[in-house]
Amino acid sequence: MKKNNNHPLKHLNHLDFLYTPKLNYIKKFIFNIEGINILELGVMHGRSTKMFLDICKKNKGHLISIDIDNYSNLYNDSNWTFIHSSDDNFDFIKSKIDIKKKFDVIYIDSLHEPNHVKKVLYFYYKYLKINGRVFIDDINWLPYIKNSFKDSEYSETINRKTFNKILEIYNGNLENIELEFSFSGTGNANIKKLNESNLKEPLKIINRLFGFRNFLRFFFRRNPKK
Ligand SMILES: C[S@@+](CC[C@H](N)C(=O)[O-])C[C@H]1O[C@@H](n2cnc3c(N)ncnc32)[C@H](O)[C@@H]1O
Repeated sequence: MKKNNNHPLKHLNHLDFLYTPKLNYIKKFIFNIEGINILELGVMHGRSTKMFLDICKKNKGHLISIDIDNYSNLYNDSNWTFIHSSDDNFDFIKSKIDIKKKFDVIYIDSLHEPNHVKKVLYFYYKYLKINGRVFIDDINWLPYIKNSFKDSEYSETINRKTFNKILEIYNGNLENIELEFSFSGTGNANIKKLNESNLKEPLKIINRLFGFRNFLRFFFRRNPKK
């Protein structure tokens, strides 16, 4: 990541701006679910893990966290199960969890790559309750754009791609899910499951913004429709 020490927004490059609002956004949808059952993909610093464990403690719930690295010693909490595995090692994970007990919340914050996000979303979605929610971390690219305070071509591109992939998933599942995005910090997608149907494949979104007709409008301006 290129450091931009002169950027007028450089004071925003801190945890309170980039992380706390993201976690608060999730919290407001789930804080009062009694006996909450949560699946978390990606632990690392354990910030989201801690937030989920606090809710589990208050609501007599349980959290399962999966990470490819071993974070089993991060918390000593009877409401927590840590599984040391890649989150797409599906047969192994199925052998470790009670798949009859569905989740209220699934949080995806592991490998930030659109095809991986899609793969784990489509696998774990069948274990989500109706009205349950999937939150997907890091869909906001604005902090990473050129010359911004976290300038990173890689993160800008990957977050844009993840955002677009989630839109395509929604476009293919308009009657199966609700979708909203939060752009707080580095962002979250928030998917609500409406019925028991499996997710259908993503549906490409045809963008006419750069189409020939729009190109011509650049030369022959029309008044906007009233
Ligand atoms: C962004 S960090 C998670 C941050 C954490 N949620 C928090 O709030 O502090 C991403 C984590 O995902 C893990 N990870 C990356 N690829 C993975 C995979 N395929 N399966 C499971 N974990 C993975 C990394 O080891 C890392 O700990």
